[in-house]
Amino acid sequence: MLYVQDLTVSISGSQILRGVTFTVPPNSVFCLMGRNGVGKTTTLKSIIGLQQSDGGSIRLGGDEMTRQKPEHRARGGMGYVPQGRDIFPHLTVEENLDIGLRAQGKSAGRKEKFDRVFTLFPILKDFLPRKGGMLSGGQQQELAIARALLTEPRLLILDEPTEGIQPNIIDQIGETIKMLRCEGQMSILLVEQYLDFCKELADEFAIMDRGAVVASGTVAELTDDVVRKHLTV
Ligand SMILES: Nc1ncnc2c1ncn2[C@@H]1O[C@H](COP(=O)(O)OP(=O)(O)OP(=O)(O)O)[C@@H](O)[C@H]1O
Ligand SMILES: [Mg+2]
Repeated sequence: MLYVQDLTVSISGSQILRGVTFTVPPNSVFCLMGRNGVGKTTTLKSIIGLQQSDGGSIRLGGDEMTRQKPEHRARGGMGYVPQGRDIFPHLTVEENLDIGLRAQGKSAGRKEKFDRVFTLFPILKDFLPRKGGMLSGGQQQELAIARALLTEPRLLILDEPTEGIQPNIIDQIGETIKMLRCEGQMSILLVEQYLDFCKELADEFAIMDRGAVVASGTVAELTDDVVRKHLTV
């Protein structure tokens, strides 16, 4: 579904990504891991086109995306939930969701599409008229995921969705990811530092260190040894 090949990125003269390579198979959950500051967010931003890359290639399905603008990549099926959520705090929940719908340029079937995200996150329905900024951190995360789902992505990209969020909402996000995976309509690329969450949800993983992938495999291969070597601080 997603091919990332030899991606290199420099920011103000320092090389941040040194040739990142991995593949996310169709209908799977892929977990990208690594300690703080190793380049996970930079990798995601390059994939969706918000960070310019110096070299390498990015393909979604069969489509070459390397030199495409972010809007083109979004319309091509990349949905992105940034680290720290990034909803519009002064717009209502409903307006935030409508932005997701409009981004895709398909506002037909609004009610059905909204009902579907309310099944996943019932609280959003109760809070439709409320300003996004008034929601709790966990609820904002749910709103950000719901907004991305309304764009009907082929690839849903989540940057640390559990960061700073209480356990019951983490569980809810985990259940949502499982459900989306079961439906078989999309792949999910998840950046995550919460090990148990990855182990429970992922099919495959890759671990980054200093701007490159240093370990990868099926989640069964994510052994304590690998964790100790690459993830323990
Ligand atoms: N806009 C920028 N300007 C300068 N340096 C940057 C910029 N963006 C990222 N970096 C640097 O690039 C490196 C990788 O950052 P990145 O945000 O990709 O890491 P990360 O793995 O997502 O970390 P975290 O787990 O803390 O979110 C860091 O050293 C960071 O300071
Ligand atoms: Mg990050």
